[in-house]
Amino acid sequence: MKILFTASEAWPLVKTGGLGDVAHGLTHALRERRHDVRLLLPAHPDAVAGLEGRIRRHALTLDQRPFTLIEGRLPGTRVTTWLLDDPPLFARAGNPYTTEDGDPWPDNARRYHRLSRVAAALAAGELLPWQAAVLHAHDWQTALAPFLLQRRPVPRPATVFTIHNLAYRGLFPAETHTRLGLPPEAWTPEGLEFHGRLAFIKGGLAYADAITTVSPTYAREIQTPAFGCGLDGLLRHRSGVLHGIVNGIDTTVWNPAADPHLAACYRKPDPAARAANRAALAQRIGLDGDTGERSGPLLGFVGRLVEQKGVDLILAALPRLLAGGARLALLGSGERELEEALRQAARHYPGRVGVHIGYDEGLAHLIEGGCDLFLMPSRFEPCGLNQLYSLRYGTPPVVTATGGLADTVIDVDTDPTAGNGFHLPAANAGALATTVERATAHWRRPAAWKRIQTRGMDGDYSWDASAEAYLRLYRNTPGNNGS
Ligand code: ADP
Ligand code: GLC
Repeated sequence: MKILFTASEAWPLVKTGGLGDVAHGLTHALRERRHDVRLLLPAHPDAVAGLEGRIRRHALTLDQRPFTLIEGRLPGTRVTTWLLDDPPLFARAGNPYTTEDGDPWPDNARRYHRLSRVAAALAAGELLPWQAAVLHAHDWQTALAPFLLQRRPVPRPATVFTIHNLAYRGLFPAETHTRLGLPPEAWTPEGLEFHGRLAFIKGGLAYADAITTVSPTYAREIQTPAFGCGLDGLLRHRSGVLHGIVNGIDTTVWNPAADPHLAACYRKPDPAARAANRAALAQRIGLDGDTGERSGPLLGFVGRLVEQKGVDLILAALPRLLAGGARLALLGSGERELEEALRQAARHYPGRVGVHIGYDEGLAHLIEGGCDLFLMPSRFEPCGLNQLYSLRYGTPPVVTATGGLADTVIDVDTDPTAGNGFHLPAANAGALATTVERATAHWRRPAAWKRIQTRGMDGDYSWDASAEAYLRLYRNTPGNNGS
């Protein structure tokens, strides 16, 4: 089947979060199943530099605007990748979405409208001699693509839109609708309008033939006011075509048996390897070394520093966590105030709290392999990948029972035979401290702890099942032109 994937990021060319991992992992899995899946991304300078394979340049024009599609291969895969090279829009280094000060680029609407416009034309076969059976767009940055394709006569490619995070809706002032030349008849509450503003994400939610999100629980949650970000009514209305499919992970890149970032690799729970990794991590992030046999667990966190992830709950719970003998290793970047609060915590508890502000893949791997417990007290979590990495690394996760966390982590005390981690009873600091204390009691019993770790490490987190689920969905989605 011919599938055009379009997203604003794909590891290792551009990545700020899980979307980048999924755009890589899922296209790779589909290609390995012999489907002709191709990927369209913006040509950020790092992406151009990282593209592999035989590089070709297609000089094209669309809506009187010239641009180039740089063709190559996504590293580590056989996925043909097109980079949309339009230098005034995408030739910017650093975070793809924001300026150095963390503000959204002022021309984001133009940039991502253009990406969506090119995706729709490419899928329809108007730019190159290749036409898609399915256009699969991801998150608000590419959500106008299903809208633009849907306006074409049948047969046209089927459109699938995946919500990775409903909290990012791509909202812009009303005049943007006209400025982008979007059709006036789409300016309705049933169309692209959202309370007097333009919402890019509605291009996917209101118009795609099928909608998916990245876990069954999040698919249910977003149909309620508490998680729906004002779009729960529309999602309830479209519930017949809304599906939850849990993400897989790249089990080659995230493999504790062969991970170049670890001080010691391991295939099964191995206290000696963990001690070596814990020591390497402690040294790297500025923590005291182990102070005797099982003095207290080393807690880890990796992620974007935003309200969603509940880092403020970790900060608020710190006095209790440290009183219980724990140390904390934390890696992340994001909102300035949270970054500063974490730096302050590291200064306040030297040797007990180690913080690295920034983006560092090697350190993320070492935290997974060197900590005893991995913390994810998220307020909501569409899927979450870090808990899957930590399960695979034998580092039981402590999570809020929401979204993909609820679907992948089983509480040890609720189900003693299948439990692989720990659920917080609520997303607050007291619940976090209590749950870490409960987990620590299990950690202090080495034989039982090994069984918990083994259950996590033995789980199947590969893309196999999810890739098959997406293929079934593609096949069953009308609009398919059969190519
Ligand atoms: P989200 O997509 O909401 O950020 P996920 O858990 O789905 O959350 O995915 C986050 C991905 O980004 C993981 O691969 C994680 O390791 C990575 N990541 C996040 N922040 C950092 C960081 N500061 N350094 C290295 N990797 C990071
Ligand atoms: C989003 C979500 C995260 C999910 C990722 C990949 O960024 O916040 O939960 O794992 O997308 O789907």
